Formats: sequence, structure tokens, C-alpha cells
Amino acid sequence: MSRPLLFAANWKMYIAPGEARAYLDRFLAIDKPRHGRTVAFFPPAVSLETTAARLRGHEHYLAGAQDVHWEPKGAFTGATSVALARGAGAAAALIGHSERRHLFGETDEETNRKMRAVLDGGLLALLCVGEKLAERERGETEAVVTRQLRAGLAGVKAGADLVIAYEPVWAIGTGRNATPSDAAVVHAAIRVVLVSLGFGRDTRLLYGGSVSAGNVEQLLAEPEIDGVLVGGASLDPDVWAGVCAAQG
Ligand code: PGA
Repeated sequence: MSRPLLFAANWKMYIAPGEARAYLDRFLAIDKPRHGRTVAFFPPAVSLETTAARLRGHEHYLAGAQDVHWEPKGAFTGATSVALARGAGAAAALIGHSERRHLFGETDEETNRKMRAVLDGGLLALLCVGEKLAERERGETEAVVTRQLRAGLAGVKAGADLVIAYEPVWAIGTGRNATPSDAAVVHAAIRVVLVSLGFGRDTRLLYGGSVSAGNVEQLLAEPEIDGVLVGGASLDPDVWAGVCAAQG
């Protein structure tokens, strides 16, 4: 089945509001919007409003939050609720990125609370899953990804507007990406779990981890890979436009 492609740029802790404006002026001048492809930008929270405003009215582009808190409001210094992200123009949110899980200690249960808050708030949720190197070496990849999926999706209605991003932790920012066929094996396992949870085959599955203009087409050639989640190669508008020009 052919699902619309999603190219997601995770800017992490880079690109201030003024830089976001200049970046998007350049990107929008060189990227050709394409039917059946959405390009999503996940800027740091301070740059979300600028990014969303610059993309408003362009149906093939959207902006999202890199993380949210599950509570709707309250005394949570440093956190961003779904409503605040929406108010800044977010149409989507990344949830459970490996840096949130492993650098900030986010648990499966917290990831689940965030997923439910994002979906209840009407945003597209991108749930990130992926194993660490030691887990892969112990042959635990499928077990880890299955656990993260089941936990992340607990209580989520089948048919909810979500995307799964498989990002092996050992491939993020290391220049070492999973081969398209390694990724395809894990994507197939993810699909089995999603189907067992009642999700249709229209749920999109992304790959992330050292994606570049040089490997993106091979990855998209795999039938279960519907797009990419990209850090390093999304930080320069010309480089990112080159990735987004890949044929799926
Ligand atoms: P990378 O990051 O493309 O720099 O490997 C991907 C991600 O963390 O989402």
C-alpha cells in the first residue's frame, strides 16, 4: 500500500528564531512541494512560533514540538504543554525520542502519558522507538522495540493519528546507519505489533539515524519505510532540501 511520505527535521538544540526565519526563506525558495509528501520541522521550543508562522498556508509543510509535558498546565518549570505548543502553531509532536529517554531519563510510562496528551490535544504524534547498541548485540532489538511500542501505545485508540519512527540509538548522530535491509526487518516487526494492537496498515513508519542525501533513496525503496526522521542533515537548508528531494 502506498502511504504519503513524511520527511521530519529534528533540529534538536540548534537554530534560534532569527536563524529559523533565514533557514526557511532559503528552504522554501529551493524545495519543490510535492503531492504525497509532507516535510515537518521540529525546532527548539523558542523557535516553534517563528517556524510555524513561516510555514502557515503551505499545505505540504508543518511545524511540531520536540517534546511536551502530559499535564495541561501548572507549575512545571521548563516544560511545554500540548496546548502551549498548539498555541505556538505546532501541528505535531515528537514523543519518546531516544535523547529524551536516555539523556533525560524518560520512562515508558511517561512516554505513554505524553502520547495520550498529544493525541487528546489533536496533534499528530510521532512515537520514537529504538534499541541501544548493547541491546542489539544481545539480540534484543525486537523485544525492546515491541516493549516500547506496547507501552507507548497503551490506552491509545487504534486509528489515532500517529506515526512510528524507528531510530536505533547506535545510529543517531554517529554516521553509522542501519542498512536498509536491517531497518526493514525491524519495520516488519513493528508492523506486526501495530496490527496486533488494531492499527491499520495506513500507519506510517519512519527510519531515523544518520540519514543523509546519500542513503535516503535506498531507505525509501523499502516498502515499509514511509519517510525519515533526520537530525544532523536537517540543520542546513540546502542539505535538507537535498534529502527531501529523494524519490520515494
Ligand atoms: P541524526 O539524528 O540524523 O543526526 O542521526 C536523528 C534523530 O535523532 O532524530
